[in-house]
Amino acid sequence: MEPILPGAPWLVAHKSTLGVNKPKKITLNGQDYVIWHNQKGEMFALDNICPHMQAPLSNGWVCQDRDTITCPFHALEFDGQGRLQQGDKKDTQPITRPLELIISNDCIWTYAGFEPRLPIPDLHQKIADDYEFIGVTGEKSIQGDFLTNLMVNYDYNHQNGTHKELFKITSCNVSSFEEKGYYATVKQELTRANNTLVEILKNPILGIFPKTLTNRLEYAFPSTTAFFAKTPIGDIAQIHILYPETAKITKTFILMYAKSSIL
Ligand code: FES
Repeated sequence: MEPILPGAPWLVAHKSTLGVNKPKKITLNGQDYVIWHNQKGEMFALDNICPHMQAPLSNGWVCQDRDTITCPFHALEFDGQGRLQQGDKKDTQPITRPLELIISNDCIWTYAGFEPRLPIPDLHQKIADDYEFIGVTGEKSIQGDFLTNLMVNYDYNHQNGTHKELFKITSCNVSSFEEKGYYATVKQELTRANNTLVEILKNPILGIFPKTLTNRLEYAFPSTTAFFAKTPIGDIAQIHILYPETAKITKTFILMYAKSSIL
């Protein structure tokens, strides 16, 4: 496939979702990669294809003493730079391509080998400075192209549609919209009807949501939509991540943060 937005930074995973020395496959712009990290926290990624007979390296295993990944077919071993390792001997040149990663606050970013054309958004650092990381949720590969999914995420009024029934939203008022290059901020007020006891028992989060919600959305094109809300038990920040897996599949997951008052 033609890569979508070459030169954009993509947040492909959070370190907390990787087991130590457990290879994981990720797909970005139609290309499969294997990614793993060791007990020292060092992160590695290679093309997910063995140069011998094209077996997926993500089905292989990691040697923790040598920081290598072993192909599941004929047990060739590669280090994190893609060099063949035989016993204690290591080739000088890679024979499978490494993927360059940038790790920031346990978020794993990559430009997938393209010349960077946009910086990694500092919005992530600001949230990490101000909030505690809670975990990753909502990881899913969605049938749908990246642009369509991006437009749904950028529709700051979609609470009034998608979430209307769940949260019993009766009105959605956007009080401000500021745009600055690849960034935008939206402030909105949502008014909710009362929930029944049965609804709260089915979905307890409804019990702590006030009648009027004051939210802020911050967009950092193209990977990030951050949602900030005040709740009676503290402030939350959800970072919704998108990246193109293939031409027709978009990856999404949510990084959850909260202010320490609710921890
Ligand atoms: S296919 Fe990987 S070692 Fe043969």
